[in-house]
Amino acid sequence: MIAAPIGRTRKKAVAAAFGSAATSYDAHADLQQRVAQRLAGRIAALPLPPAPRVLEIGCGTGFLSRALAPRLPGADWVITDLAEPMVRHCQRGFPGPARFLVMDGERPCLAPGFDLICASLAIQWFGDIRAALGRWAGLLNPGGHIAFATLAAGTFATWREAHHTLGLRAGVPDYPDAGQLTGFLPGGGTGGIGIEPVRCPYPDGLSFLETLRRIGADVPAHGHQPLAPGQLRRVLRRFEAPAGLVETYETAYGFFRKEEAP
Ligand SMILES: C[S@@+](CC[C@H](N)C(=O)[O-])C[C@H]1O[C@@H](n2cnc3c(N)ncnc32)[C@H](O)[C@@H]1O
Repeated sequence: MIAAPIGRTRKKAVAAAFGSAATSYDAHADLQQRVAQRLAGRIAALPLPPAPRVLEIGCGTGFLSRALAPRLPGADWVITDLAEPMVRHCQRGFPGPARFLVMDGERPCLAPGFDLICASLAIQWFGDIRAALGRWAGLLNPGGHIAFATLAAGTFATWREAHHTLGLRAGVPDYPDAGQLTGFLPGGGTGGIGIEPVRCPYPDGLSFLETLRRIGADVPAHGHQPLAPGQLRRVLRRFEAPAGLVETYETAYGFFRKEEAP
């Protein structure tokens, strides 16, 4: 993991990490693809109007938008990401007309009027999820929906525990639990959070770290001090083959519907 940046510097580091992973992402993002498919299936069941106006935040290479496009025929799409290479990659693979933007999804610079705002595994990179969801709600039409997947507390528990046992601190970020995520949902509507754990096996600890790097998810937690090489070797020794590492992703699905106009 690289050194831990903060604030605006952190956001630039997140954009740079995902930007440089745009071409390697798809080959290493099995979990992200599964989650996007699942989220798309649930979105397809929402009571959306015909030809909805859809905003996607943190599109990455396009797993969610490509899964949703055939389920929302006639949708008017705005597809966005913080990392410009991700936006370009997504644009190349999207099967239809859409407006593509490089944009910080925490502060969308867009006029209101969306029927759906969606994001798969992007908001865990935000500095303030609650504030961002509040801004998204302000962009929704009455009766409009927010639908997202994110990571919740307990994610990377195996990796964290290995560090803890050695008196070390892992660089992976902390995530909110289901109660905190529920509290982040905006007022003026109804919604909820569901958690689904997904277990992913890795042949060893280095493969785990390499996967995070290849998808651009290797920016460490705020304030993290990188481990010395000897410390990292001690952690990796705990996951040597054939035992390897099975890591848990506590995947949270969040849905919110804005009140209809009176
Ligand atoms: C793990 S990838 C998920 C990409 C895609 N949604 C998927 O499911 O494969 C996270 C994406 O969120 C983007 N991202 C991170 N912070 C963001 C922000 N503040 N605004 C918009 N996108 C952001 C990253 O650039 C990256 O493309």
